[in-house]
Amino acid sequence: MAEQATTHATTVPDPVAAPGTAPLAPAAEPVPMFRLTGVEKVYTQKNRTVHALRSVDLTIPAGQLVAIQGSTGGGKSTLLQMLGALDRPTAGTVMLAGQETSRLGDRDLARIRARDIGFVFQHYNLIPTLTAQENVEMGLAPLGVAAGERASRAAAALASVGLEDRASHLPGELSGGQQQRVAIARALAKRPKVLLADEPTGNLDEATRDDIVGLLEGLWRAGLTIIMVTHDSAVARRAQRRLRINAGRVTEAA
Ligand SMILES: Nc1ncnc2c1ncn2[C@@H]1O[C@H](COP(=O)(O)OP(=O)(O)OP(=O)(O)O)[C@@H](O)[C@H]1O
Ligand SMILES: [Mg+2]
Repeated sequence: MAEQATTHATTVPDPVAAPGTAPLAPAAEPVPMFRLTGVEKVYTQKNRTVHALRSVDLTIPAGQLVAIQGSTGGGKSTLLQMLGALDRPTAGTVMLAGQETSRLGDRDLARIRARDIGFVFQHYNLIPTLTAQENVEMGLAPLGVAAGERASRAAAALASVGLEDRASHLPGELSGGQQQRVAIARALAKRPKVLLADEPTGNLDEATRDDIVGLLEGLWRAGLTIIMVTHDSAVARRAQRRLRINAGRVTEAA
């Protein structure tokens, strides 16, 4: 896990402290991984509107493992899309590591998604005709990483999820849990700032689920910020922080 063992906290320079003087201001606050302010998301289709997110104010410091729970249609996936620069809010601001993604155009959003965000989904989203190694390398293609480095980074990412001996297997030759490990390796290979997971264990049996949650926990302990949507309370209990989202409103869960 050496590749992912860094935290991604950045700090704001302290404008007051000068060399050789005692600092007058308190230590600089680290910039959070996410800061959402007044985020609204309204989907409009023909004459129907859906208010998917309502007045969401949320700060997620770097290095947290956050679980998001809530009833179906409550807005969990919509929130992940805002965090992951997949879409822009109708109103409000989304800051990712100090950069306001809610103001960016499509090209800049695509660049941030490719470079900074690791995505993991319930259905793995692997390409069935490519091997595990090739699937992981695919994640690096938009970053302009040279072929040799793509290969070595993909091999290291597969090793970090315990699949070094399955690199040449097609997805159809892997178990569900192994396919999800390949998907996690694909996300990790780009060395993302944050890992966003939408129901990462939704398709897995209990033992495999615990296995995958254990893997995510290990990545979190090594410094990665992880935000995962889950319907499974046993998974949510393993997180450091739990959020609930119902009818578009986010609350902290005990
Ligand atoms: N692209 C879209 N266009 C129109 N409405 C949408 C769109 N995406 C989501 N919605 C609506 O927004 C609301 C929130 O959807 P979202 O997918 O975020 O819920 P969810 O909490 O992830 O639900 P689930 O647990 O079923 O995955 C729902 O009412 C949904 O129908
Ligand atoms: Mg969803």
